[in-house]
Amino acid sequence: MAESTASDAITEDTSNKRPQFGNRTLGEDDNVFQHNAWDNVVWDKEQEKVAQHKVEENSTVLASEEEIAKYESEADKYWDKFYGIHQNRFFKDRHWLFTEFPELAPNDVKQDKCRPIRVLPESQSDDVVQENSLESIKSSHRIFEIGCGVGNTVFPLLLYNNDPDLFVYCCDFSPLAIDILRQSKEYDENRCKAFVLDATQEDWNPPFEENSLDIIIIIFVLSSINPDKMKHVVKQIHRYLKPGGLVLFRDYGRYDLAQLRFKKGRCLAENFYVRGDGTRVYFFTQDDIRDLFIGCGFSEVQNLVDRRLQVNRGRQLQMYRVWVQCKYRKLP
Ligand SMILES: C[S@@+](CC[C@H](N)C(=O)[O-])C[C@H]1O[C@@H](n2cnc3c(N)ncnc32)[C@H](O)[C@@H]1O
Repeated sequence: MAESTASDAITEDTSNKRPQFGNRTLGEDDNVFQHNAWDNVVWDKEQEKVAQHKVEENSTVLASEEEIAKYESEADKYWDKFYGIHQNRFFKDRHWLFTEFPELAPNDVKQDKCRPIRVLPESQSDDVVQENSLESIKSSHRIFEIGCGVGNTVFPLLLYNNDPDLFVYCCDFSPLAIDILRQSKEYDENRCKAFVLDATQEDWNPPFEENSLDIIIIIFVLSSINPDKMKHVVKQIHRYLKPGGLVLFRDYGRYDLAQLRFKKGRCLAENFYVRGDGTRVYFFTQDDIRDLFIGCGFSEVQNLVDRRLQVNRGRQLQMYRVWVQCKYRKLP
């Protein structure tokens, strides 16, 4: 099997051919190859054990100390190289964004872009606050995206959120990604400011004040950061959000197909790997995220695991994808 790259990761999750999440469940009598994807797939103990075994196996040989240090110190260069190759060809209109995160849409956005969220799986803890009805969604003015890449989230946001008071900040540590984003015709300086920032650096110096943001979005970004530095990033998120402000998070889940596919020698630390193109990826459990955010002064609004079975009908392949999606609120 070909070595994975970050571009696989992005295209696998953002295809707009896919129906909205949570719509199609696989029943006992269904033919698995009848559709391209099934939602809310339940894993049995055996499947979990096989996955655990594969991970144990591919983690037995770690990359060398020199390699681990190089992937860390040159992380931004590997992403820059990625954008040098792919430019903005992975831009997709993310319809799921407003379905999963209706908080991003103002009240007058079309209903089909802003449906209430699906029912949460039973695994979710009882103390989670349920606040996903449309009635509770207020338009939020200052939104900041960390790790925005070339605008896959920012541009749909600017397009569909027509709140006149909306202002979107976004950053990435790849200067090339920010350049590409700024040169896009959708980039409107009156409504958006993109800047280069490494979220792991000690002090941020962003163009906004502490305690000033309504929403921070971090989608498929924390996974590319060294697990030892994740807590610092979450603390910074806490610092710049308003009291009562919201974090919207989506990322790779433990035992996702991408994790099981890694070969020996690509593992950098527990559940943290380097892809063929030098970009890195961590695979989260729900508890990883819960501990990180609760430990930094947030309350949990949502923490769910999204398990999907993707099917390649031509090649008769079944691919089990796992994502974790969460919302945390800064305590007032
Ligand atoms: C998998 S891409 C996701 C991009 C975008 N959020 C999306 O969902 O399409 C990860 C992004 O995080 C950025 N990134 C990784 N580490 C970062 C850091 N320490 N500071 C800022 N951006 C970072 C990368 O440059 C890349 O654009």
